[in-house]
Amino acid sequence: MTLPLEGIKVIDFTGVQAGPACTQMLAWFGADVLKIELPGKGDVTRSQLRDIPGKDGLYFTMLNSNKRSLELNTKTPEGKEILTKLLKGADIFVENFAPGSLERMGFGWDQIQAINPRLIYGTIKGFPEDSPYSDLKTYEDIAQCAGGAASTTGLIEGSPLMSAAALGDSNTGMHLLIGLLAALLHREKTGKGQRVYMSMQDAVLNLVRVKIRDQQRLERTGELTEYPQYPHKPFGDTVPRGENASGSGVPGWMMKCKNWKTDPNDYVYVIFQPWGWENVCNVIGKPEWITDPNFATPDARIPHLFDVYNAMEAWTIDKDKHEVVEILRKLEIPCGPVLTTKEILHDESLRANGSIVPVEHKDRGLYYTVGCPPKFSAFTPEIKASPLLGEHNAEVLTELGYSAADIAALKEKGVI
Ligand SMILES: CC(C)(COP(=O)(O)OP(=O)(O)OC[C@H]1O[C@@H](n2cnc3c(N)ncnc32)[C@H](O)[C@@H]1OP(=O)(O)O)[C@@H](O)C(=O)NCCC(=O)NCCS
Repeated sequence: MTLPLEGIKVIDFTGVQAGPACTQMLAWFGADVLKIELPGKGDVTRSQLRDIPGKDGLYFTMLNSNKRSLELNTKTPEGKEILTKLLKGADIFVENFAPGSLERMGFGWDQIQAINPRLIYGTIKGFPEDSPYSDLKTYEDIAQCAGGAASTTGLIEGSPLMSAAALGDSNTGMHLLIGLLAALLHREKTGKGQRVYMSMQDAVLNLVRVKIRDQQRLERTGELTEYPQYPHKPFGDTVPRGENASGSGVPGWMMKCKNWKTDPNDYVYVIFQPWGWENVCNVIGKPEWITDPNFATPDARIPHLFDVYNAMEAWTIDKDKHEVVEILRKLEIPCGPVLTTKEILHDESLRANGSIVPVEHKDRGLYYTVGCPPKFSAFTPEIKASPLLGEHNAEVLTELGYSAADIAALKEKGVI
C-alpha cells in the first residue's frame, strides 16, 4: 500500500492539541514525522489528565500516534545545530509555540528560509499577525471566544458558552493541514517553500461563517426569523445565541424523549424540511395542519415554529430516542439521536468503519483512538502507537551521523 506522503519529512515542534492534531494526520498519510520534545519532560500532555499513574496520558497518545520522538533542548548550541541539520533535510516544519518564542530561539521564518528555501513552515498562533491580540497566548476557549463561536452559542438569557468540540485546537490543526498540503503542491510547481500561518481565531471564524452571514442579514432586516426569539422578543444589533435552532434555512429543534428525566441524553434532533410536511402532520397527530393557512407553507409556519416543536415533542415524549428515529426515518423526516460518548466509543459500526480504532501501546496497553476521518479508496492509514519520550533519540542522531560516543556526550550535557 503506497501512502500519499511517503518520503515527506516533517519536523514536528508542536505541543498540546492544535499542532499535534495536524502533524498526526500528516503521519497517518505516510509522512515521517519527528516530534521534538524538551528533554526529560516532553509535550505537556504526556503528564496531563493521566488515567494511569506514570504512563503517557491519553491526551498525548491520541494526538501523537505514528510519530517518532527526539528529545532535544533547542536552546543549547548543540541542540540548535541538530535542529538546523534536521531542517535542512526536511520538507515541512510545524510549530505552535507562544508568539515570538521560535524567533527568540533562532528559528523564525526568516531564519528558516535561510536554512532551507524548500522548507514549508507551518505555524499556529492564537490570532492573525496584525491583530491587536497577536501577542496573546491562546488556548481552545480563548479562540472560541475570539472567533464568534462563544457569543452565538448557548441560551438567550445565559452566558456565552463553550462548545465541547475542539473548534480552537484540533480544528485549527485541520485548517493548517489543508494549508500545508496546498503548500506542498505549490512547491511542486515553484520549487520553493513558504510559510503557512494559521490563527486559531481564523479557524473558528471559518466555522462560524453562517453567523457572519446572519450578522449581515440582521443589519439589513433587523430580525432573524429562524432564531428562537422570533417573533416573541426583540433583536439587538448582534447575532444572538441560537439555543438549539438549526441555524440553517430549514428549521429544527431538540426533542425530549421518554427517559429524559433520568437519562440526560435521551433526546432526538428533528429537522422540518419544506417538503414532507404531510408526513410530519400525520405522525404528530395534527392532520389539520396540512391545510391550515397558519401551518401549510414553510413561511406561514415560521411564527408558529414552537407550536410545531411542541407538538412533535408531545409525540416523542413517550418513546426513546431510538424508537423515534426508527419511525421518522421511514417517513423520510430528517432526525438523529443524541449519542453519548459511551455509545460512540462502544459503537460496533464506528469500529468496523475505522472511526474508533484500537491501538496497542507498549507501555500502557490497549486504548482506543479516533481514526482518520476521510476514508480513501486507495489506502487506509494504519494507526500505530505514539512514541515514548525520546524513543528515537539514538536512531535519529545516528541518521544524522552522530556516533554512539557523541550521543552519550549529548545526553550527559542535557542536550537530549
Ligand atoms: C499553548 C501556549 C499558550 C502555551 O504557552 P506556554 O506554556 O508558555 O508554552 P510556550 O509555547 O511558550 O513554550 C514555553 C517555553 O518552553 C520552551 N521550549 C519548549 N520546548 C523546548 C525545547 N525542546 N527546547 C528548548 N526550549 C523549549 C519554549 O521555547 C518556550 O520558551 P520561551 O518562553 O523562552 O520562549 C502557547 O504555546 C501558544 O499560545 N501557542 C500558540 C497557540 C496554540 O497553538 N495554542 C493551542 C495549543 S492546543
